[in-house]
Amino acid sequence: MNPFIFNCPTKVCFAEGSSSSVAEHLADLGAKSPFLITDEFLLKNNIIAPALSALEERFGKVSIYSDVPPDSDLECINKVAKNAKDAGADSIVAIGGGSVIDTAKVVNICLTLGGDILSHQGLNAIETKLFPLIVIPTTAGTGSEVSYVAMIKHHVEKRKIVFGSKFLAPDIALLDPMMQLTLPAKLTAATGMDALTHAIESVVCEITGSSFSDALATEAARMIFKWLPVATADGGDLEARSNMLVASCMAGSAFSNAGVGIVHALAHSTGARFNTHHGLTNAIFLPHGMRFNQSVAQAKYAQLSRQLGFSKTLDDNEGTATLIDSVENLLKQLNLPSRLELIGVPKLNESELQQWANDAVDDPSTMFNPKELTVQDAIEIYKRAY
Ligand SMILES: NC(=O)c1ccc[n+]([C@@H]2O[C@H](COP(=O)([O-])OP(=O)(O)OC[C@H]3O[C@@H](n4cnc5c(N)ncnc54)[C@H](O)[C@@H]3O)[C@@H](O)[C@H]2O)c1
Ligand SMILES: [Fe+2]
Repeated sequence: MNPFIFNCPTKVCFAEGSSSSVAEHLADLGAKSPFLITDEFLLKNNIIAPALSALEERFGKVSIYSDVPPDSDLECINKVAKNAKDAGADSIVAIGGGSVIDTAKVVNICLTLGGDILSHQGLNAIETKLFPLIVIPTTAGTGSEVSYVAMIKHHVEKRKIVFGSKFLAPDIALLDPMMQLTLPAKLTAATGMDALTHAIESVVCEITGSSFSDALATEAARMIFKWLPVATADGGDLEARSNMLVASCMAGSAFSNAGVGIVHALAHSTGARFNTHHGLTNAIFLPHGMRFNQSVAQAKYAQLSRQLGFSKTLDDNEGTATLIDSVENLLKQLNLPSRLELIGVPKLNESELQQWANDAVDDPSTMFNPKELTVQDAIEIYKRAY
């Protein structure tokens, strides 16, 4: 067995209506002046109302920043960090999807440590405890509520910048399925596919994976195959929403320890250029990434296929094919597009394709993939997925 370390520093609390317990949790962490980060939709539709009134009852008037765009960028981080500093914030509450949560993580770096934001980028550049951070996810996909990373867009360089450190993991994740009832079907499906990609990619990260991450990823995948179609078909089904929220968090914990792989690398390079949704882009690349990895990872894929009840065969090749079929069938069931062209990715010429592939190969996610990705491999996958 490979040596491993498994960590989940975030306290995870699940309960219907738990968003209103945020003030209590924050006070326990010693906070006195929280700053709330969210997005326009969640503010305008009163989804943050229970949390906000609990915070205001306990701490008085709370400063809010609600202009976080999908796939937050450096400009947004600088603006929010200045607002939080001016407000005298000593802690942060993030209510939103991965874009809001990642914004909050990087704003917390700026708020606690100061300095130029870019000086903190990269893996393990942050070595001290940051201000208290509580997150309330409103999508079920990214796992950012427990992960050690944040991905922020660099518009000029057309790429995503990674911030990674164990100190980026939020102190507390409040999982409240009531926060997800307004999530439209397409976003429910797309974000759920992000969680499935985390689960499937983490299972084949041989060096950093462990029985701990495998157990979380396998159970997360089982829950997602069962409940994602239900949550997508009926957004008001609290049981389905609850299962997706928990599964996404488990997959988040699995990939935070084991890693993700080339599907994420290809999706990052695509999303940074063409503003495609992260989960949707992963969904399209997932079957292609699995076929690419099959030659080295088929024993793990086949085992997952048997554990999920998709196949009984001991033939790894067949078991892997069944798992890939199940992923493609799920995409069809969710009515998600299966080709890049259908999500607005333009046809790239050779030099654009080369640059896109270079960025994918340089993405940190490739470090954990079981098989090396070359520029030529990435280009071939792009053409197949187009
Ligand atoms: N840090 C990590 O570990 C990690 C992992 C995966 C992805 N990410 C990042 O997360 C981002 C994607 O996050 P996401 O998929 O959660 O989407 P998102 O946060 O970008 O939100 C997408 C849209 O959904 C809307 N929305 C969110 N919650 C809603 C709700 N309850 N009801 C109605 N609308 C709602 C938002 O307003 C937004 O318009 C990407 O930037 C990606 O890079 C981070
Ligand atoms: Fe992801």
